[in-house]
Amino acid sequence: MDHKPLRLIAAADSNMGIGISGNLPWRLPNEFNYFLSKITTVSDPGKKNFVIYGKGSAIKGNLSLPNCYCVVLSRTLSSVPENADYLCRDLPSAIQLASEPPLNEEIEILWVIGGVKPFEEAMKHPNCDQIYLTNIMAEFNCDTFFPKFGQDTFKLLDEFPGVPTEIQEENGIKYKFQVFQKVCKE
Ligand SMILES: NC(=O)c1ccc[n+]([C@@H]2O[C@H](COP(=O)([O-])OP(=O)(O)OC[C@H]3O[C@@H](n4cnc5c(N)ncnc54)[C@H](OP(=O)(O)O)[C@@H]3O)[C@@H](O)[C@H]2O)c1
Repeated sequence: MDHKPLRLIAAADSNMGIGISGNLPWRLPNEFNYFLSKITTVSDPGKKNFVIYGKGSAIKGNLSLPNCYCVVLSRTLSSVPENADYLCRDLPSAIQLASEPPLNEEIEILWVIGGVKPFEEAMKHPNCDQIYLTNIMAEFNCDTFFPKFGQDTFKLLDEFPGVPTEIQEENGIKYKFQVFQKVCKE
């Protein structure tokens, strides 16, 4: 079976909050656009990425993600929801789907975009090499939180190709893009 990179991407506030009542706690279109246009949808010619999410983290609206297959995780759904390409019962099944014929030749990167359980499972998986985590530099009312991860396992990089290092500001809210790289243990 292929070992494809498995990566997380999220935005969290100062308390690691990521959601409220099933929605994002903030409205930051440029931040969202960074996630869509610069990260998850970028693949080599002829390749596609997997965008994997729990049922409650589907991207709202009629957005199609170029160069991506959308993979919903659910144990209760019996058919693939609208706007998704695949339905898997759990994260290992999604990883297996991407790693075996007929998709293994086509899939490049597996992006886990939420929610809590998929993040938790993905960050512990041996194929997980990076966490893209936008630091929203403010406090919001949240009921959903990004799982804790060991900063000795994932190291915050000073800079990363294609990722702006300067603090961004949108709608009066400051934020910065961050990439954590898994530390290779000898
Ligand atoms: N700030 C960010 O970057 C960000 C990113 C993503 C989401 N969010 C926010 O986070 C909230 C949603 O997250 P959430 O954790 O509550 O829900 P979620 O993980 O998106 O959805 C929960 C449902 O997905 C299915 N599921 C989740 N993990 C699974 C797994 N490992 N295997 C199989 N099925 C799985 C289950 O469906 P069944 O019950 O049908 O089995 C579960 O009830 C929303 O507020 C959203 O806006 C924020």
